[in-house]
Parts: sequence; C-alpha cells; structure tokens
Amino acid sequence: MEKILVIDYGGQYTHLISRRCRELGVYSEIISQDTVLSHEYLVNVKGVILSGGPRTVTKAELQGPIRENITLFAELQIPALGICFGHQLLAKFKGAQLEAGGNPEYGMTNLKIIRAEGILQGLSETENVWMSHSDQVINLPDDLVPLAESRDGHIAAFSSKDGFLHGVQFHPEVAHTPKGMHILELFLRKICRCKEHWTPESQIDSIVKYVKETVGDGLVLMGTSGGVDSTVAAYLIRKAIGDRIFCVFVDNGLLRLGEREDVETAFNEMGFKHFITVDAGELFLDRLKGIEDPEEKRKVIAETFIQVFEEKARELEAIHGKFEFLGQGTIYPDRVESAATGKATAVIKSHHNVRLPDWMQLKVVEPLKDLYKDEVRQVGETLGIPEYMLQRQPFPGPSLAIRIGGPVTREQLEILRKADAILQETIIEDPSYSSIWQAFCVLLPIRTVGVMGDERTYDQVIVIRSVESRDAMTASVSRLSWNVLLKAASRIANEVKGINRVVYDLTSKPPATIEWY
Ligand code: XMP
Repeated sequence: MEKILVIDYGGQYTHLISRRCRELGVYSEIISQDTVLSHEYLVNVKGVILSGGPRTVTKAELQGPIRENITLFAELQIPALGICFGHQLLAKFKGAQLEAGGNPEYGMTNLKIIRAEGILQGLSETENVWMSHSDQVINLPDDLVPLAESRDGHIAAFSSKDGFLHGVQFHPEVAHTPKGMHILELFLRKICRCKEHWTPESQIDSIVKYVKETVGDGLVLMGTSGGVDSTVAAYLIRKAIGDRIFCVFVDNGLLRLGEREDVETAFNEMGFKHFITVDAGELFLDRLKGIEDPEEKRKVIAETFIQVFEEKARELEAIHGKFEFLGQGTIYPDRVESAATGKATAVIKSHHNVRLPDWMQLKVVEPLKDLYKDEVRQVGETLGIPEYMLQRQPFPGPSLAIRIGGPVTREQLEILRKADAILQETIIEDPSYSSIWQAFCVLLPIRTVGVMGDERTYDQVIVIRSVESRDAMTASVSRLSWNVLLKAASRIANEVKGINRVVYDLTSKPPATIEWY
C-alpha cells in the first residue's frame, strides 16, 4: 500500500496532517523524529511530511536521524514537504539562513505568492493562511526557489529546483488556511504521484486477511467493553475466523449504572455465539485500594484485566482447546498518545490496552491499530453494526477509576454512578446532544461548605465534563444549554448524598485532556 510518512517534531498539528492525507485518500503514518529509516521501510513510501514543532532549528537538529533520513530521501528520490518547523529544517539543511525570534506571526495572515507553481499551483496573488511561528527563513541557497513571501518579506514557501524538497512556513493542514487542502493534494498527487485511493472501508479485506494469517486455526479471546472500538474489532475478527472468537466482558466493578446489562443485551442481539461476563469487581477494588496516582491506577487496572483474561483463557481451554490470542480494540491515537509508535511523543496517558505486562502469555491481535476513531465508525457502518453501538460515547478502559480523584472506594463509586446517571438522563434533552463526543461526571475529593435545610454541609464536588471532538486528539467544550446544565446540577446536588456543589469544566484539549485523571 502506498503511504505518506509524517515525521513528528512535537507540533500540535501532527495528527491533523496525517488525518488530512487520509481524507485526501492517501494512507499516512506518523513516526517519531528519532526513527532512523531504512531502505526497506521506505519501499512504499511515496512522500514525507515534516511536521511543525516547538523548537528552534540549531546545528544539533541537523545531526543524527534527521540528516541521515533527509539524505536517504534524496538518494531514493522521495519528495519531502516541510511545514513550519519542518520548512525551516529543510531550508537550513540546504544552507538557507534562518532568523530566530524577531517577527512572530500567529493566526491568520496574508501570503504573497511569488510563483503560483508546484505546491502553490492555481493560487491567487495573495492568499489567507494560518501561521504560528517566531523563527523564519530569510534567504535561500541557489537550488531552492522562493514561491511565496510573508507580509514582512520572509520566505513563506519554497521548492527545490530538482522538485523533491518543498517547504511552507504556514499550516496547510488547519481549516483556517482555506487553500490548505488544495496545497496538500498537489503535494500528494502531483509531487508524490500517489495513485491509490485509500478509504477506511477499503481496509476491511486486508484487516480480515491480517487476522486470518495471524490467528490461523486458533481461538481468540476478545476483550469486549461494549465500546465502539472493541465492538468493531470483534466484528472484523468474527468476519475472519467465525465463531472461534470468544467475547469476554469484564465487570470490573468500575462501570456506569446499567452498563453491564446494556452490553450483554447488545451482544446478544448482534448474534455473537460466545459471550461471557466475568465478575471481577472484588478483585479490581482490592487491587486499587489506597492508590491515588492515576497512572498507577491505570497500570494496576491494565494488569488486572490481563490477569482476568489469562485466567479465563486457561479456564476455557479445558473445554474448547488452546487460546493463543487476545483480541483488542486498540486504535491509532491510543498507540500514539501512549508513545507506542516512537519515543518522541511524550506519554500523555498510558491507555490500558497499549502497555501490556511482560508476563502475559496471550498474543495480541489488534485489527484497528492503524485507524482513527471516526474511521473505525465508518468501518463499523460498512460492516452493518447497529447505529446505537457505533454512536456510543467512548468510555475509558480504566472506567470510573480515572474519574475519581484520590482512592477508589465503593462509596465514591456509588456517588459518581448516581451523579453520572442523572447527567445522562438530563443531557439527552439538550438540543446539541448529537454533537457531544463525551459527557460525564468527575468526582473531586475536595470538600466545600454548603447548606441543606438549616444544616451546614461539608461535602464533595461533582464536575460536569462535556466535549465535542472528532478523534479525541483535540476537544472543545460543548455549549450545553443553561437550562439543561442547571437542571443536571440541581438534581445532582439535591439527589446525590455526599455532593453539595456541581461545576462545569470549561477547558478545551489542549491545554487540558478530556478525562481529568
Ligand atoms: P484524554 O483524557 O487523554 O482522553 O484526553 C482521550 C480519549 O481517551 C480516553 N481515555 C482512555 N481510554 N484508557 C482508555 O481506554 C485510558 O487509560 C484512557 N484515558 C483516556 C478518554 O475517555 C477520551 O475518549
């Protein structure tokens, strides 16, 4: 399969670049800036995009992997497009002069096109673009041709005379650059000569093939949560190996109200022959006792999940034969945010299904490991999965444990479950309900003063968190109606014992994350 590599220099839009390529029908993958590429790895790579990043290009940036990689691209005649930091990096690599600081440009600015050719073909004399930089390229060596200037005369776009290197100081990947998709499309189709038309649905056959080849005539124990990812993954595995998939749903004691029953009913309706619920609440709560640190909670929960799966596999083996594989619904951002794709991306949260203990015996099968969430939904639609399953809001593997600040206890879970059930009941009335990505409650273990009847109370706080997002990599706050928010807050504070205050989280991601812990 043809692909574009996006090299991640730590820019906030790296995923967006990758997404845009896929939207334009070209498969793309993100790799860390520290990856040293080889000839073999680059066989199907039609082009490379160097992302933005927070640093200044120094001599050190031009050593090691970046130098080796750019040299290799040139040798193999693989076109490269540098964006922002990537633009400066490529220019400097070729001997251009950069200026640090000076005249920063942030937000929408006007670009003066000097030559409407190459990646800027078809553009007008001036175009609006989105900039976010303080360093700039101030002149170019002979073999680089300037294509556009920023308002203060700095080089805002260039191409090399041999047609392989291209740079843009602005961000074509963001929606605020109106001709951005046009520019990226020119790079992908004209410069890199990508021919194939990639769609997530077109991956179904190759995913099924991957599962068949991996599993052979073995059995798969499928970690099933009832969420979109593991449900779509289960369908794909069933498509590949039929009823040799055994869906195992772990009731970890950290679930939302009614969740277990909902999932059991849905899997029954979807006709999975083997669906098993494991009651493991006691075990999880025991393991979590006294743990406050969210990453520690994740680690403990992840290990306990694997332990439960391993034990179940051994138990089922007595009846059905050897279980060699564990199916998981891991998707692309899980791997990237957990830094499973390279060490340059800082670990933000170690998603439970990515970091696996080394004592684990089952081998992992992850049919969705290269897809983004909305791509998973598209695949799910093509497979005929019921809409109500595909539209379910994501729910994290560590469940309510990462929505409770401080130690997880039965009492705290009870409070959070009640509050969350009220929120879910209320929020469904909101006019913007269908655009919510995730809406949930968080329990803060801090006490504030309140008054109930004539009594002073000193109780905990519930946070309402509701966000809109496309793939959880970034998120903005839902604009819920005041009426709905006030109704939810009033009911929670009045009906949930132990809560006397409700607040609404107004922070987007970044700088916050969607979950609080
Ligand atoms: P954050 O909080 O990182 O969340 O902005 C992004 C998305 O990931 C979910 N999430 C998790 N999912 N294990 C999971 O399976 C985890 O440890 C985890 N942490 C966050 C979160 O609900 C959101 O959809």
